[in-house]
Amino acid sequence: MAKNKHAFFVTGTDTDVGKTYIAAALVRHFVQQEYLTVGMKPVAAGASLVNGRLLNSDVTELEKAGNVSASIDLINPYVFSPAIAPHIAAEQAGTQISLDKIATAFESLQAQADVVVVEGAGGFRVPINRQETMADLAVKLNLPVILVVGVRLGCINHALMTVGSIRAAGLNLVGWVANRMDPHMPAIEENIEMLKAMIKAPCIADVAWGATPQFIDF
Ligand SMILES: Nc1ncnc2c1ncn2[C@@H]1O[C@H](COP(=O)(O)OP(=O)(O)O)[C@@H](O)[C@H]1O
Ligand SMILES: [Mg+2]
Repeated sequence: MAKNKHAFFVTGTDTDVGKTYIAAALVRHFVQQEYLTVGMKPVAAGASLVNGRLLNSDVTELEKAGNVSASIDLINPYVFSPAIAPHIAAEQAGTQISLDKIATAFESLQAQADVVVVEGAGGFRVPINRQETMADLAVKLNLPVILVVGVRLGCINHALMTVGSIRAAGLNLVGWVANRMDPHMPAIEENIEMLKAMIKAPCIADVAWGATPQFIDF
């Protein structure tokens, strides 16, 4: 990877599939390669008060992984207390999530870092308000996408639908990660082999449960 500005949008086949686990590992991967790297979580739902500010655990994890000390308001412009769908959390808080505000925060982070790793919330088409979804955010920021597939029963369908959505949005799927969320899944190797056959993008990491992700060059 050439030493200039890069950013990635990390999405997943669902919520709880390892987006944060992989996004934080990606941040550490770029830090190890001596890039100034920061993680961003534009919208987080599920947070508790720490020193008078709502703090979400994904944000803490991404922040810990990076080597740029950016403002938390840029890393996480929208945070809501209840762990519910973001557009509902925003409505309950009397807020409307604005892509412009997120884009401004992103640009500021990108100015401070060589690499920005942006973690979505939930899956690719999770709404952020009554008109827009996470997909619109990825389009607005014009980011190459990394898809985390939580390898468990049903993941092939979810993966292929998400790949279709990413392509329909006109975005570049740079790679995907096989995250073995269920190590006891029957026929796990056959499932991963099928994902490799059907996803027309490289598998950039195959991550066992509890393992440190190792990424191929992408
Ligand atoms: N490969 C893995 N090995 C061990 N724990 C994992 C792995 N992938 C995810 N987890 C754990 O599973 C949970 C859900 O993952 P997380 O990254 O928070 O998902 P998401 O960001 O998609 O909601 C977290 O507790 C995380 O630490
Ligand atoms: Mg997460």
